[in-house]
Amino acid sequence: MTPTGDHTEAVEALLHEERSFAPSEAFAAHANATADVYKAAAADPEAWWALQARTLEWATPFEEVLAWDSPHATWFADGTLNASVNCVDRHVAAGRGGKVAFHWVGEPEGDTATITYADLLERVSRAANALEELGVKPLDRVAIYMPMIPEAVVAMLACARLGAPHSVIFGGFSADALVDRITDADCRFVITADGGYRRGSAAALKAQVDEAMASCPGVERVLVVQRTGQEVAWDDARDVWWHDIVDRQAPVHEPAAFPAEHPLYVMYTSGTTAKPKGIFHTTGGYLTHTSTTHRLVFDIKPETDVCWTSADIGWVTGHSYIVYGPLTNGVTQVMYEGTPDAGGKDRWWRIVEEYGVTILYTAPTAIRTFMKWGDEFPASHDLSSLRLLGSVGEPINPEAWMWYRKHIGGGRCPIVDTWWQTETGGIMISPLPGVTATKPGAAMVPFPGISAEVVDNDGDPVPDGHGGLLVITRPWPGMLRGIWGDEERYRDTYWSRFDGRYYFAGDGAKRDEDGDLWLLGRVDDVMNISGHRLSTAEVEHALVGHPAVAEAAVVGASDDTTGQAIVAFVTLKVADEVADGDDAEIVASIRAHVAEVISPIAKPRQIILTPDLPKTRSGKIMRRLLRDVAEHRDLGDVTTLTDPTVVNMIDGLMAAHASDDD
Ligand code: WT7
Repeated sequence: MTPTGDHTEAVEALLHEERSFAPSEAFAAHANATADVYKAAAADPEAWWALQARTLEWATPFEEVLAWDSPHATWFADGTLNASVNCVDRHVAAGRGGKVAFHWVGEPEGDTATITYADLLERVSRAANALEELGVKPLDRVAIYMPMIPEAVVAMLACARLGAPHSVIFGGFSADALVDRITDADCRFVITADGGYRRGSAAALKAQVDEAMASCPGVERVLVVQRTGQEVAWDDARDVWWHDIVDRQAPVHEPAAFPAEHPLYVMYTSGTTAKPKGIFHTTGGYLTHTSTTHRLVFDIKPETDVCWTSADIGWVTGHSYIVYGPLTNGVTQVMYEGTPDAGGKDRWWRIVEEYGVTILYTAPTAIRTFMKWGDEFPASHDLSSLRLLGSVGEPINPEAWMWYRKHIGGGRCPIVDTWWQTETGGIMISPLPGVTATKPGAAMVPFPGISAEVVDNDGDPVPDGHGGLLVITRPWPGMLRGIWGDEERYRDTYWSRFDGRYYFAGDGAKRDEDGDLWLLGRVDDVMNISGHRLSTAEVEHALVGHPAVAEAAVVGASDDTTGQAIVAFVTLKVADEVADGDDAEIVASIRAHVAEVISPIAKPRQIILTPDLPKTRSGKIMRRLLRDVAEHRDLGDVTTLTDPTVVNMIDGLMAAHASDDD
């Protein structure tokens, strides 16, 4: 296996990257991490992680550090703790209750809230009492389907407080996607809102839940936050308003301690098949990993920093770097509900200026969008509070990196490009901002205590200057503990590639001449659309569910803004419907269908209607060729195809409809 074709040119360019940015003396002088950290961690990774784990508050201190029976690890297993106590109570007990935990900014102008750690404790305690009254017990799974409002964080922490694993489902997912996830994790409870504000209007959430409930008989109660005040349908036996039950609860809640390996949450993500995987994380190791990486990668100074992670809590970035990492470290954060251009294309920069954001963590897609909008939007605001910038979710191209550095960071802020996954729980490869000289587009080096390698197909490390597959060679505290209910898939997906020796990440990587790491994108059929993970199989599955579609093949084609974009090649059941090669109406209906079955984020950028798909003699669809077609590359050797003319015909169709983006 080699990195996907779309990255070949990128690899070439990277070979010649000579720019490097060392930390300024001023930054390095006050940095949390110095070069010694690498030495200490390398000398004894387990002892180093144990030291980090002891910065948490344990009800029962642990003796045992790591038990590793490949592919299963436990960390700190004989210790007990409560995740919500570590995120909230601890700071209040230490006299920091008056400190702001969240400056919350709703999408509608002027709709803001300030929540201190003391407020957060009171809210989490009331919510935990309410969930108990509704019957939530340790190990019950609770689905959370919410907009970016404070109650989303409160709901997660209340679940954690009760030892009830949450399964947060991104608010952009459809009713069908909800059904799959709620059923797979067997959730007994759902927490949602009437709706949330996106793109200037109130988007419905409860309506999706209502539709899903028809197929989720296992759900007993649905707790509903009133956010927008929009009209909602109501089932008296099942639905309960958050304000009716939470507000009347006692403001204190006595937390229980749970073993370090108690499940904290399940988070669904796309694999290579149509069925999403429930990635399952536990408590002690995960908190250790997120807290430590947050403290060192973002160089957190809890007294003065204002952190803003622009992710949604429906993705792992929100779990690890809005909720668990930052809150264990007791920092002040900004949390923003809406889209970046709601109220003007300078909305983000107004927020940075108003709240004095010091650390901004976002995705390359957002950066490229801001580049496209123009330099004048960040330039019209005072961004001098910023002192560190982060990037996550997809490879960042050097051009976007340089723009981020200059136009957002004023040329003075270190940039940390952080590679990790839903599965890894926390950051795995990243510069340390006071230590590492960074290169535009490179995630650089494994975090202290993490062992990553780039290997060839046999699992042998590649020499400097070569590419291969990224693997993690030792267990780490935040690693997934499995795929919910599917041990076999867990072994197959991550461990079978190198016989249980290494964790196989599914990413291509390159080790440059200096030994630094560049992440090059997926080597499997997982796509990365604006930092959102989707599999070609799940989009194909949705496509063939449309009544007019006979067959579909999906590829991720490189895209200047979204990193990759979905291009679908579709054959229809009634072939003569496509006599002229396209049919705007049917294409629109197919796109709408995909949005309905998965999410609007899964809508193909282009749908090419074609009478046939290129197949090998054994009947396998030739995706490589389709990707070449989608990216307008030379087609190369097509002689293994049953019918080589098919691909030329599709190429012609593609050229004729190169501009049906919307
Ligand atoms: C996949 C994981 C990590 C939280 C958000 C995404 C890609 C992630 C980087 C980066 C290059 C990156 C990888 C990875 N990815 N960060 N800094 N450079 N690629 O989590 O949805 O689980 O996706 O995102 O391909 O495998 P996820």
